[in-house]
Amino acid sequence: MSGSSLSVQGLTKRFEAGTVNEKLALDHLDLEVSAGQFVTVLGSNGSGKSTLFNTILGRILPDSGSILLGEEDITRQKDYRRALNMSCLYQNPLRGTAPTMTLEENLALAYTRKASKSFFAVNRRDNAYFRDLLATLNMGLEDRMKTKMGLLSGGQRQAASLLMATVAQPKLLLLDEHTAALDPGAAEKVMEVTEEIVIRNQITTLMITHDMDYALSVGSRTIMLDMGRVVLDLSGEERENMTPGALAELFYARSRRKRNG
Ligand SMILES: Nc1ncnc2c1ncn2[C@@H]1O[C@H](COP(=O)(O)OP(=O)(O)OP(=O)(O)O)[C@@H](O)[C@H]1O
Ligand SMILES: [Mg+2]
Repeated sequence: MSGSSLSVQGLTKRFEAGTVNEKLALDHLDLEVSAGQFVTVLGSNGSGKSTLFNTILGRILPDSGSILLGEEDITRQKDYRRALNMSCLYQNPLRGTAPTMTLEENLALAYTRKASKSFFAVNRRDNAYFRDLLATLNMGLEDRMKTKMGLLSGGQRQAASLLMATVAQPKLLLLDEHTAALDPGAAEKVMEVTEEIVIRNQITTLMITHDMDYALSVGSRTIMLDMGRVVLDLSGEERENMTPGALAELFYARSRRKRNG
């Protein structure tokens, strides 16, 4: 399996148009991501990162522009149809999981998306499959399959959520600061697991982060959003030569410019 390419062209979204609160969240944004590419996304608060994700997910309809996943134009496709092809993970480790169900039941539910349209009982083979999958995370989760999701630690839950988000083999994975609520140790571990899963499955991935180190060290390309546009796009040698300090400097220079109007 592998991911699909993503092509975003001229994407524009204005909130509360015609009012004093009018806000241009996406401003003719263009972004081409090749199949299997892992891109980190930086940008100050309000730069349009989540709005970009929400339009890709179909939760927000853009005013204009188009979104292609592979060859398919999904700009106006219903969100439930897109859900079969993409997964999203957020800061809150419990979002998108059933906390009173066991880890195994949660995984079975996520797996069902791929296996069939109806819920199926976890049979012994699936059980062994989930155990093996969990063991690859190296977080001791394979011994906690009968534990209720809500009782796992934040890091364990987020790693398990990542597995749930990818077990149905999405063509696109969107990570919206998925390690931001974790302590540094757990964040590091979940980041390792993220790279492992994404690279193993070659899932096309966009990962929003506010961490300059992760922005440069994870994946193979870094973009920065500002005022609803891509203002920086680093890959290859240019990215390798960039330091977190220099990147932070570029980031704060933009913020200062904005504050000073
Ligand atoms: N539903 C909405 N209604 C009105 N304005 C909105 C809505 N969603 C976002 N905005 C505005 O659009 C702009 C972009 O917001 P967005 O949430 O995409 O930013 P972000 O880059 O994800 O920021 P953060 O780092 O804080 O999560 C902001 O000015 C925000 O206030
Ligand atoms: Mg956001």
